[in-house]
Amino acid sequence: MPASIWDGVSIGSLRLANRAVMPAMGTGYCSMEGEVTERLLAYHKRRAGGAGLIITEVCAVHPLGKCLALELGIYDDSFLPGLERLAETVKAGGSAVAAQIGHAGRETFESLIGAQPVAPSPIPSRTLGQVPRALSGEEIAELVGCHAAAARRAREAGFDAVEIHAAHGYLVNQFLSPYSNRREDGYGRDDAGRFRFAREIVREVRREVGKDFPILFRFSSSEMLAEGYDLDYILPLLVQLEGDGVDAFHVSCGIYDAPGNPTCPGMHHPAGINVERAARVKEAVGVPVIVVGKIHDPRMADEILAAGKADLVAFGRQHLADPLFLRKAAEGRYDDIRFCLSCNQGCLERLMLEFMPATCSINPECGEEWRTEKLKTKNRGPFLVVGAGPAGLQASLTMREAGAEVRVVEREAEPGGQLRACSRPDGKEPYADWVSWAVRRLSSLGTKVELGVEAGEETLLARSWQGVVDATGARPLIPDIPGARSAKCAEAREVLLGERDPGDHVLVVGAGLVGMETADYLIHRGCEVTVVEELEYTPVLPLTSHGHHLHGVLGEKGRLLLGTRVLEVTGRGALLSTAGEEREMEADTVVWAVGSRPEGALREAAERAGVGAKAVGDAVEPRRVLEAVHEAYWAAWELMGSEG
Ligand SMILES: Cc1cc2nc3c(=O)[nH]c(=O)nc-3n(C[C@H](O)[C@H](O)[C@H](O)COP(=O)(O)OP(=O)(O)OC[C@H]3O[C@@H](n4cnc5c(N)ncnc54)[C@H](O)[C@@H]3O)c2cc1C
Ligand SMILES: Cc1cc2nc3c(=O)[nH]c(=O)nc-3n(C[C@H](O)[C@H](O)[C@H](O)COP(=O)(O)O)c2cc1C
Ligand code: SF4
Repeated sequence: MPASIWDGVSIGSLRLANRAVMPAMGTGYCSMEGEVTERLLAYHKRRAGGAGLIITEVCAVHPLGKCLALELGIYDDSFLPGLERLAETVKAGGSAVAAQIGHAGRETFESLIGAQPVAPSPIPSRTLGQVPRALSGEEIAELVGCHAAAARRAREAGFDAVEIHAAHGYLVNQFLSPYSNRREDGYGRDDAGRFRFAREIVREVRREVGKDFPILFRFSSSEMLAEGYDLDYILPLLVQLEGDGVDAFHVSCGIYDAPGNPTCPGMHHPAGINVERAARVKEAVGVPVIVVGKIHDPRMADEILAAGKADLVAFGRQHLADPLFLRKAAEGRYDDIRFCLSCNQGCLERLMLEFMPATCSINPECGEEWRTEKLKTKNRGPFLVVGAGPAGLQASLTMREAGAEVRVVEREAEPGGQLRACSRPDGKEPYADWVSWAVRRLSSLGTKVELGVEAGEETLLARSWQGVVDATGARPLIPDIPGARSAKCAEAREVLLGERDPGDHVLVVGAGLVGMETADYLIHRGCEVTVVEELEYTPVLPLTSHGHHLHGVLGEKGRLLLGTRVLEVTGRGALLSTAGEEREMEADTVVWAVGSRPEGALREAAERAGVGAKAVGDAVEPRRVLEAVHEAYWAAWELMGSEG
């Protein structure tokens, strides 16, 4: 019988109910002191009972080893009571639980830890740019001991296993790699030297926790950058580590400096990014192999297991997007699963770039379980929701799931709002899948989106609504310059939706997300594209996986002109000004992607009708799916008058 995720499996002495794993994901839900909070417990409680094994977010083995301000600590016995509650919560929910332990090394900030970051060598990572201090031999020995002490605490706190974080460019990874380790002593110089820190940690952890406590080792199977290591380099280490006492290997990839951050594969990375490397690891070692990396669908996991390419499959962000997805899959309810978009906006980027606690763009309850589990419906409507973009769909869903009566109207012939255009570029199809999911879910709750209905005063006054949600979104801006509304011009959404054929030579105005994506879309369809932007930079960060992709495509196959304004649209193209110099550029079409502004018409109608309407999402201010979905959720509860 081919293996399936529903089969039991053993890691060392630990028996797991199935082969699904929730991997470590930093949340930012702990206290400033690194202690377990009610918020963190509620988040885990919601997820426990699905995956056979849940691995906690990384716990710092040393105060200088934190990479986030809000990172769990395991470097002192004072953390034990909180960690005990965490282990107990997950186990009571029906999953086994492992603690991930690690040290950030150079991947942190002096401003965060209050001291110069440490590393094998004084080489800054390109991404953070902080010059670290090289660790002395004594300090290395101390840090080996810190890992062992952390593992001992994990065991004392009631965890079933410990995972050593040696992936993603953190300290152990830094020692393993010739890219970051240029030491000339016994912890560098050659492969054996670079492997030594990891091997000493594993041996010390084993000595400290005894024989019957499983040790997992998470590593990057390729650093995914030209100067980094690959699988051939790291395979011999794995064989040695198995001998040193590792009970399972967890195959990830990438480091901070790898272009496009493949540690959290984005919309343009392949699904199952590590599967083939995991298969090679499995050939080399005798203990179970866990594979991770953009495997959101349990059916794909089953295929991987059936092909013998791994023994367990980790689903990371899918656990954020839909904590109950494994239960739904076990019941064959795949249509009910809210699949992760691989957008990274609500989770990784929020945590690492916005320095906010992680959540999920499309799951407004993620990280809020401690508050949402107390919500109770007081007012069951009827409510009117105007607009079926992400905000309107989420508001309706929240109300229907709480048992309220809802009417939801949309003026277009299709639901989705801007997501209809947003999902057109390659890789962004999951946004359209989310719309289908939301509409299906609403329908299963007995509510149909009324399409082709434009709400105005009449609709607002048609019933005595208990509340109205204004989810009418935003319309594109067209600049106030000569020719801007001529036949030569189109709006980005029209082009993406295929409502306008822009010809072969296209000038896209605006290098924000919409402009860059429109360029990407057109380049893939064979157009010659120039993007002009009046700022000296584009707000799309090349650091993110999506931004990296967009800059890559434009850099390779298109043209980006920064500091350039469009003065006028002419018969042949557009008159541009760069640093005071004017020139005409020929184009078949000039595509506007210069921002948007709230629709506003419903608000005015509501004022005329004397009806209160709660605006959410882009109707307040044009932003993202995350804000639309989250605001809609909380607005719905505000109208339903929750008893907290
Ligand atoms: C090309 C493109 C790419 C994008 N990419 C991303 C991305 O990658 N990530 C991200 O987070 N965000 C992205 N966005 C932004 C995101 O799509 C919006 O922030 C989000 O859709 C806003 O949701 P909303 O429900 O508030 O409004 P909208 O999506 O604008 O939906 C409003 C809906 O209300 C309807 N409506 C308006 N008035 C009425 C009325 N009187 N009666 C009935 N119906 C009415 C409209 O027809 C529309 O369907 C992108 C946007 C575009 C255009
Ligand atoms: C918000 C967030 C925080 C993460 N924190 C950690 C972490 O603490 N330790 C770790 O090893 N990996 C961490 N990861 C990486 C995940 O464990 C996982 O490898 C990655 O999300 C890819 O798997 P997925 O495609 O199933 O999400 C994090 C990922 C996310 C999204
Ligand atoms: S924010 Fe995006 S990538 Fe992160 S879990 Fe949610 S849908 Fe997935």
